[in-house]
Amino acid sequence: MNKNIPSEERSVMVRVPGTSANIGPGFDAFGMAFNLYNTFTFQAKNDGKLTIRGVPRKYQGKSNLVYKAMQKVFKQVHYSPRGLYLYTKTDVPVSRGLGSSATCIVGGLVGANALCGSPLNEAELFDMAVAMEGHPDNIAPAFFGGLVCAIGENGHNDYIKKSVADCFAFHLIIPDFELPTKEARAALPDQIDRTDGVFNVAHATMTYLALTEGRPDVLKHSMADKLHQPYRKHLIRSYDAVCQAAKSYGALGVCISGAGPTLLAITPKSNLSAFSEHMRRFLARREPHWQLYDLDPDNNGTTVIFK
Ligand code: HSE
Repeated sequence: MNKNIPSEERSVMVRVPGTSANIGPGFDAFGMAFNLYNTFTFQAKNDGKLTIRGVPRKYQGKSNLVYKAMQKVFKQVHYSPRGLYLYTKTDVPVSRGLGSSATCIVGGLVGANALCGSPLNEAELFDMAVAMEGHPDNIAPAFFGGLVCAIGENGHNDYIKKSVADCFAFHLIIPDFELPTKEARAALPDQIDRTDGVFNVAHATMTYLALTEGRPDVLKHSMADKLHQPYRKHLIRSYDAVCQAAKSYGALGVCISGAGPTLLAITPKSNLSAFSEHMRRFLARREPHWQLYDLDPDNNGTTVIFK
């Protein structure tokens, strides 16, 4: 099939990983992808209808974020299918700091582009995704996988993606409540102290290098942050107790995942099961409705499957 000729009734499935932004000191710059996915199935239809399934009824209309992202592509390429069927299989928890909205944006843009015969390239789609989300830190790993650092000015974004060293294990400690990013950002001061800025530049750089070069000895000290976590931790019930417990069970570092409320603990891989066992027991006592996911990094990012 000529990929430049859109075909009615063509089906596309797009799988996008959940992500954890910031990783402590890399505020608004770093993000990492995990083997936890949202999967979107798209079908261009001839029936003139919009049908959205797999999400609560309130997201089944034109305000659906995946649909909104698709419209950006259709507008850009001056093509739109007559009708559309969209099914979402959601494994990434919503409003927990795990990049669920980034999965919707990337899934919608990539899916719509594939339905249209892929007229837009990866860089164009990435810039569109960042413009929609406002920060590259979840979008970049959702798109490309791995550990990604991104910068952007005037609508153009650059990123560097690296695979995470194999010696680390990742544990998401997911609270039983949502924390809107807007509320978590409203807790931040408008201005920062220069010494705090300097502290974060050095700690962020060392965290990136420690994770990619396999240096648990460095990671143990580098994940400290002075730009956002001190101002947000009061929004997360049991924050201090959970961080303290995670450290006592062998975590090299613990941070707020994105804007929270999920916490990300990083341990040496050799300590994976002992940490999980202790942490599960601790959570059962202290926060019985919280969940613990033991995950691996995803180094592939978004994948498109034609059907
Ligand atoms: N980096 C953002 C924040 C969240 O911490 O507010 C993800 O974009």
